[in-house]
Amino acid sequence: MKIHALGYLGFESPRHEEWLTFGPEIFGLQIGDRDPDGTIHLRMDDRHRRLSIHPGEEDRLAYAGWELAGKAAFEEAVAELSHKGYAPHLGTAEECKQREVLGLARFQDPYGFTHEVYYGPTATVGSFLPGKPMAGSFVGGVDGVGHVVFVVPEITPELEKFVTGLLGMELDITLPAGKSRPGGQFYRCNPRTHCLAYIALPGHKGVHHLEIESTHMDDVGRAWDLVQERELPITVTLGRHMPDTLISFYLRTPGGFDIEFGAGGELRDPDYIQTTPSAPEAWGHKFVGDGWPTTVRLLTPEQHPTGKE
Ligand SMILES: [Fe+2]
Repeated sequence: MKIHALGYLGFESPRHEEWLTFGPEIFGLQIGDRDPDGTIHLRMDDRHRRLSIHPGEEDRLAYAGWELAGKAAFEEAVAELSHKGYAPHLGTAEECKQREVLGLARFQDPYGFTHEVYYGPTATVGSFLPGKPMAGSFVGGVDGVGHVVFVVPEITPELEKFVTGLLGMELDITLPAGKSRPGGQFYRCNPRTHCLAYIALPGHKGVHHLEIESTHMDDVGRAWDLVQERELPITVTLGRHMPDTLISFYLRTPGGFDIEFGAGGELRDPDYIQTTPSAPEAWGHKFVGDGWPTTVRLLTPEQHPTGKE
């Protein structure tokens, strides 16, 4: 299938109400509609659905939505999912209404994370109003939200086949494991350097972070000042990954996962040749956080497919 972007994400969290101030004040996300159950929808462009925080008993990713070009691509994707044994659940009219899309299909990756492919998202031209004054705007539109990074115990051939063979993404960066940090694989689905990544941490599984980006570095600088003034839980200081021109920092959110907020991310040329970074960071990005996000869980030995801890 041909995925065009990471289109939306849904999380569950007991502290979902905090997003009403956290989202707009820190990043400039706009509060959209609220569902009767209390779900908060945050917007970053003219799309109605980008980040949804649902009430829930524990911090967890509920779904990641991947955007397809239209109905024909959706029907092909559903046929491919069925043919390859992923048993897609076709979204009911009610589910499509909730996501504000024309069609969606839900399935799970080899580690049980829930993904959705969809088409026909609702957008209102000229309707986005940032939650605070911004120097630039969010990078969004057809290139999507940004990227989502999962933690898995091991990057297996089955997982690689899922991302490249089923989702049709290209491997952009392989980050070898370092002394004190795990390695990972970063996959591209549009000109942005990656939209999906898996990092390998034996015995662990969950969502590490979601990346969003502004078109102007001043938005990142101002947010960086603000999170320090408010003494919010920064997990990774301002810096730049290698090879990636994005300058960013990471913050633990009230949803338990981290948000990486950055600017200046490069767009890959179609002829991009994969390179292997000699170090994870070009500069900065010091780990200062207190442990892994609460959305990343320690698995029991029985749950760990390799039995290793
Ligand atoms: Fe990232």
